[in-house]
Amino acid sequence: MRTPIIAGNWKMYKNVQEAVELTKGLKEMLSSMKGVEVVLCPPFTDLSEVAKVLEGSAIGLGGQDCYWLNEGAYTGEIAPRMLKSAGCTYCIIGHSERRTYFHETNETVNKKVMAALAEGLKPIMCVGETLKEREENRTFAVVKNHVENGLKGVNGNDMDRVVIAYEPVWAIGTGRNATPGQAQEVHAYIRKLLGALYGESVAAKVRIQYGGSVKPENAAEIMKERDVDGALVGGASLKADSFFGIIKKSVKE
Ligand code: PGA
Repeated sequence: MRTPIIAGNWKMYKNVQEAVELTKGLKEMLSSMKGVEVVLCPPFTDLSEVAKVLEGSAIGLGGQDCYWLNEGAYTGEIAPRMLKSAGCTYCIIGHSERRTYFHETNETVNKKVMAALAEGLKPIMCVGETLKEREENRTFAVVKNHVENGLKGVNGNDMDRVVIAYEPVWAIGTGRNATPGQAQEVHAYIRKLLGALYGESVAAKVRIQYGGSVKPENAAEIMKERDVDGALVGGASLKADSFFGIIKKSVKE
């Protein structure tokens, strides 16, 4: 059985003090939580302090992005090895906001996935269609393109460290989540794609998160879908109560 994974993507919210405070609250709330893996992805500047608070807890830490080289004259960029030394085990890669506002392409996403894996990090690779693409019935084609090109060259042996986040762009930060049926349909399709690339047994083990307006009120019904293995949560991860509410509802019976 796949352990669900709930990751909080704090985006460009929370300064160091706010991040530490939220982390302390979550650490306490989650101290006896079982059956679900939780990862916090704060801004880069918060990572080291959040890592200190997380010491001794089962909560994981992740970056929101990384560069594909481990050092060099690349002003403003953060290398996978820097994330690792700051205490990260995960890294979100290819979030739609990165693709939209920072011109990331499947090619850069792929380089970042490879670089993260090479450094021993676990990439959370985001894929998903825009509203226009969905309306033009291109959802499957877009997702196929993101999955196949994002994972180009990734070895089947490394797929146990890869998490895929299906995030329909029209559902991110809009309050309009995909229905459980819409999510399951695409998740099953992604698993089928992974099966074709890596074989059924590898595909069966890869965790596929849903992301896009997940809240405590809708988490349970989305999480109970067969191929939904957790969530990538933005807005609702910024408050301990709402994030905890989602986590509680994600434990599979
Ligand atoms: P949201 O964001 O939960 O605020 O919709 C999800 C994400 O961007 O990962």
